[in-house]
Amino acid sequence: MADVTFTVDGKQITAPKGTLLIEACRKAGIEIPAFCYYPGLSLQGACRMCVVRIEKIGKLQTACTTPVADGMVVTTESPEIGQARKATIELLLGNHPLDCPVCDAGGECELQDMTFKYGAHQSQFVEIKNHREEQQWSPVVYFDRPRCILCYRCVRVCGEGMDVWALGIQNRGSSAVIAPNKQDHLECEECGMCIDICPVGALTSGPYRYKTRPWEMNHVSTVCTHCGDGCKTTLGVRRADDGMEIVRGDNRDKSGFNNDFLCVKGRYSFDFANREDRINQPLLKQPDGQFKPVSWNEALDFAGKKLREIRDSQGGKSIGVIGSTHITNEEAYLLQKFARTILGTNNIDHHRTADYPTFLAALKAKNQKEASIRDFADAKAILVLGNDPTEQHPLLAWQIRNNVRNNQARLYAANHQDIKLRRQATSFLKIQQENYGALVAYLAGNDKALEGNAAAAGFRDALRKEESVVIAFGSEYRGKDIEALVAFGAGFQNVKFACLGDYANSRGASDMGLLPDLLPGYVQVGNAAQFGEYGDAVPTEPGLDMVQM
Ligand code: SF4
Ligand code: FES
Repeated sequence: MADVTFTVDGKQITAPKGTLLIEACRKAGIEIPAFCYYPGLSLQGACRMCVVRIEKIGKLQTACTTPVADGMVVTTESPEIGQARKATIELLLGNHPLDCPVCDAGGECELQDMTFKYGAHQSQFVEIKNHREEQQWSPVVYFDRPRCILCYRCVRVCGEGMDVWALGIQNRGSSAVIAPNKQDHLECEECGMCIDICPVGALTSGPYRYKTRPWEMNHVSTVCTHCGDGCKTTLGVRRADDGMEIVRGDNRDKSGFNNDFLCVKGRYSFDFANREDRINQPLLKQPDGQFKPVSWNEALDFAGKKLREIRDSQGGKSIGVIGSTHITNEEAYLLQKFARTILGTNNIDHHRTADYPTFLAALKAKNQKEASIRDFADAKAILVLGNDPTEQHPLLAWQIRNNVRNNQARLYAANHQDIKLRRQATSFLKIQQENYGALVAYLAGNDKALEGNAAAAGFRDALRKEESVVIAFGSEYRGKDIEALVAFGAGFQNVKFACLGDYANSRGASDMGLLPDLLPGYVQVGNAAQFGEYGDAVPTEPGLDMVQM
């Protein structure tokens, strides 16, 4: 879109035509306060905090709903604007309880920050505040109605962002109130997005509430340990009687490629770390069959001695090593190196869901590209084959939903189940589980592969109109089906692929060579010599896979 030039607080700014004034200002480093505006969600225009003066317009205007125009002259701060914002805050505080010292949002509350900034320190109201008891809507969502400032962020993120629609509004005007979709409780995915997006402490989190204050925690950036999307998460960690305790997971600082998104797993599934029944010390089986806790040194000595005995008496091939998709690349690399060069075995594997070796070899052969999660946020057309991203790759599903909603991207999905993402699809094709391979042959032009399937014909016709597409496929595709899919993709002007593996470091386990026939970097074990001294010690025959072991 063509650029327009306008003036804000005496500064000349250029932005693409149609950009919202609030966004153009933020990009130029001019912050306009907002409660109801939230990037990526539909416009609400409910709170009037973002009012600015635009030359030649009689009344103050909302920057969150005004697109920039050539020659526009804008003032974002003045006594008049400050007074208007102060009045808005006074109204918001009309029923808002002054329980900041105990409220979960204290220290992180946008209303508190604005009150400090615009100085609404005195109320004009003499009426008694309208109190309501707090409600529990789900295991993780609590609602404190008087604290709510009716910005509708929660309603929009749940509906538009998550496509769950578990929250709505009851009544109108001063009686309006946020309400759950099922009378007194939420039927939802428990993602907690509504809690994190709430600018005040109206929605609070069951596992976190009243436990601590934001300034008492260390905010530790890390990677979520669950699915293969690898969201960045920030863990709130505080000192406990018996060490450190994780009390919260969020991504409020919006860093990382997932921005502020986290699913239920990323936000709440950290409690395993501090569970009392978690095994955090090695256990050694005693002659009486009972396990006894021992020190790491003792356990490693014992395991090393036993493995050496077996290797020396029966050969390394009588040992099998199973790695994990929940360890780091470094750990996976060292494990396979230990197996190969110390134990002398290629019997090494891990729980594999995606066939990365075939995928990467096929891409290389066709000189095709891998897609990143960001590609799904702005691709014009997306093809999803197999998998259920809502369950298995929640961030991917979030990106696709946002792209369809905000950029009118076209989604083509084929699945053996009625996956939730079908609601965003331009075309959805339900196929038999055994037909994933046939579908690719059919899309590539082999009419016989799905002969007589009118729905498949419509799906193929629609897809053929696309010039560029980003393709994601699940573990339904392996071996030759992946090769065929990559070959089919070559027919598009631009194509990228994402092979969806299920667990946190599925890709790393594969890249690092937790495989019976491939070394790190997918080098055949027979070609290990290129790794020099290390390679010379690697057995040249492929080992047993996990099932064979
Ligand atoms: Fe806004 Fe929070 Fe009220 Fe929802 S509960 S409308 S996010 S203040
Ligand atoms: Fe503009 Fe609420 S942020 S009206």
